[in-house]
Amino acid sequence: MQDDAGRAQPPPPLQVVLIGPPGAGKSTLVPALVETFSLDRIATGDLLRAEIEAGTPLGHTSAGYVERGELVPDAVIEQLLRSGLAAMRPDTGLLLDGYPRSLDQARTLDGLLADLGRPIDVVLALEVPDDEILHRLGGRRLCSGAGEPWVLHLDDAAAVARCRAQGGTLEQREDDRPEVIGRRLAVYRRQTEPLLAAYRAAGLLREIDATGSTADVRARAIAAVRRR
Ligand code: AP5
Repeated sequence: MQDDAGRAQPPPPLQVVLIGPPGAGKSTLVPALVETFSLDRIATGDLLRAEIEAGTPLGHTSAGYVERGELVPDAVIEQLLRSGLAAMRPDTGLLLDGYPRSLDQARTLDGLLADLGRPIDVVLALEVPDDEILHRLGGRRLCSGAGEPWVLHLDDAAAVARCRAQGGTLEQREDDRPEVIGRRLAVYRRQTEPLLAAYRAAGLLREIDATGSTADVRARAIAAVRRR
């Protein structure tokens, strides 16, 4: 894109929604999307865990829902979404990770983005079979206690060794227990999956195979967003 004097202009900011079942690899993919497309990320799951950790009233209200693998009430999530949107930089795009998770939330989002003049450009959906999800979530650990916590999988011996060498410990998310994983998957199928048909009908959906190496998934995701 060029201005009237023929100078190259940065592309307009993109609004991207990332959808996928629990453990599909959304957070793993985020840094590549953020960097490639200059996006600010709003991750409702991370925001909720921060509120729970800090012991805020919003955290107290949400903790039981998150532990059981159920959706936190819309009014609570909308509060987090509104403050995330208010903090966005004007020249930067938006990456929504974990919102919307239901048709009602999608309607709320459309209204808020319309007010900002930033309609959704693309919805990137990650496809991963259930047995792979169970494996990914069963082995997911957070390397904590050594700077900013980071996610790894127990299969990745080099990452486990790196965490230990940093003096970190491996912690499991409360909602990654097998009985909760089953409920999160059921909630995804019942409440979130209907969004795919709605976004497909709106011409916004790009579905990618999210199995294989993280590098392959990254490449597919970037290509799919570019193809919008
Ligand atoms: P949230 O934190 O959003 O959880 P989620 O959607 O269930 O997703 P995860 O964070 O579990 O997985 P991910 O897809 O990011 O996978 P990751 O990259 O870590 O939400 C948590 C809870 O908060 C919800 O259950 C709900 O209670 C509440 N909540 C959040 N948003 C809400 C909303 N809008 N409304 C109401 N309630 C809401 O990867 C997983 C593992 O796989 C890692 O170990 C990783 O290393 C590994 N991995 C990743 N990619 C690959 C690959 N290509 N190959 C092999 N392993 C891989």
